[in-house]
Amino acid sequence: MQRLTSVVFWFLVFGPFVYGQLDYKFYDSTCPNLTKIVRFGIWSAMANDTRIAASLLRLHFHDCISNGCEGSVLLDKTSDFSSEKDANPNRNSARGFELIDTIKANVEKACPKTVSCTDILTLAAREAVFLSGGPFWSLAMGRRDGLTANMSAANTDTPSPFEPLENITAKFTSKGLNLKDVVALSGAHTIGFAQCFTFKSRLFNFDGSGAPDPQLDSSLASSLQTVCPNQDNSDTNLVPLDSVTTAKFDNIYYKNILNNSGILGSDQALMNDNITATMVINYSKYPYLFAKDFGASMVKLSTIGIITGQNGQVRNRCNIVNQN
Ligand SMILES: *[C@@H]1O[C@H](CO)[C@@H](O)[C@H](O)[C@H]1NC(C)=O
Ligand SMILES: *[C@@H]1O[C@H](CO)[C@@H](O)[C@H](O)[C@H]1NC(C)=O
Ligand SMILES: *[C@@H]1O[C@H](CO)[C@@H](O)[C@H](O)[C@H]1NC(C)=O
Ligand SMILES: *[C@@H]1O[C@H](CO)[C@@H](O)[C@H](O)[C@H]1NC(C)=O
Ligand SMILES: *[C@@H]1O[C@H](CO)[C@@H](O)[C@H](O)[C@H]1NC(C)=O
Ligand SMILES: *[C@@H]1O[C@H](CO)[C@@H](O)[C@H](O)[C@H]1NC(C)=O
Ligand SMILES: *[C@@H]1O[C@H](CO)[C@@H](O)[C@H](O)[C@H]1NC(C)=O
Repeated sequence: MQRLTSVVFWFLVFGPFVYGQLDYKFYDSTCPNLTKIVRFGIWSAMANDTRIAASLLRLHFHDCISNGCEGSVLLDKTSDFSSEKDANPNRNSARGFELIDTIKANVEKACPKTVSCTDILTLAAREAVFLSGGPFWSLAMGRRDGLTANMSAANTDTPSPFEPLENITAKFTSKGLNLKDVVALSGAHTIGFAQCFTFKSRLFNFDGSGAPDPQLDSSLASSLQTVCPNQDNSDTNLVPLDSVTTAKFDNIYYKNILNNSGILGSDQALMNDNITATMVINYSKYPYLFAKDFGASMVKLSTIGIITGQNGQVRNRCNIVNQN
């Protein structure tokens, strides 16, 4: 009994370090101002460009969903590997790299060689949501940075707005997420913008019908047609994913879907399955349910394929692996 108590005691004291787990107090003594530094960095950037909030949330999602949360999306290409920045889901659309580099530099000044880029990006996504008026969730820290990027994983693992719901769900479940996570995390589209090419196929000749997608509200379709005319040079024009409260993190995204005002085919497709449709209705009615579930899904997302303990490294700069 004495022995068992002592084993349990040592496990509780040293478990998180010995077993390389994440810890809510991970940086409490080594970088007590970490959250403040990250929050101030995001706040300053949003004062100039509110869209950066959605960009950071997407960057974190793209990091975690392919090969785990290990900061691989932040790496520039080298002679050893291609970058995830250049993968199809990220090229000409991923944003926020310079901001993460700036925040990392500020963190290095306060606590050198201590905080991983992956933890910074994870915190940045939370702060971006919180500062946009959305929920707050507690995050355990201690993720380490990976040593390589994997462009082909970024291409195959990242969900795309051109895929059916089943394919998107399969990508989530292969990472340990579930259907509820699909619906809750889709709520991230309550902020941010989409380039026209990501939904243009819904506007003019949907499935060869010669008309817009019948699941797209007709007056919304007309206004989207003016921003995204049927010619290639409109492909990169931007449209808000939630035109009602574009920069506010709320549950209006789900209300929009209920009245056929989802912008991406993959947004509106949540209504084509009874289970996901019920969740959409729930989230449209109960903002607190959405806030709670979104936070819980973000915590799950932030632990996919993490590197802890002595594995990986704490990068000095987020865009390059340390040389030593
Ligand atoms: C944390 O920031 C405060 C100012 O906001 C500063 O006074 C303090 O020295 C900082 N602490 C550390 C450990 O860097
Ligand atoms: C302000 O935001 C714009 C994008 O909207 C960006 O190009 C510019 O670099 C930002 N300026 C600063 C000082 O961050
Ligand atoms: C990159 O990802 C692909 C697809 O997930 C995988 O097959 C491959 O083994 C990975 N390559 C490396 C070097 O990890
Ligand atoms: C969806 O997944 C199936 C099975 O993996 C695949 O054959 C199909 O090409 C995918 N569809 C799209 C649009 O990616
Ligand atoms: C759809 O719902 C949103 C949010 O309730 C509302 O602002 C918008 O006007 C509605 N659009 C249509 C076409 O009914
Ligand atoms: C989904 O709901 C429709 C009615 O809205 C019903 O006809 C159908 O059987 C349901 N499908 C499943 C799989 O429950
Ligand atoms: C919708 O909300 C109700 C009441 O909170 C809950 O019982 C039900 O399980 C939810 N449905 C889905 C599909 O999440």
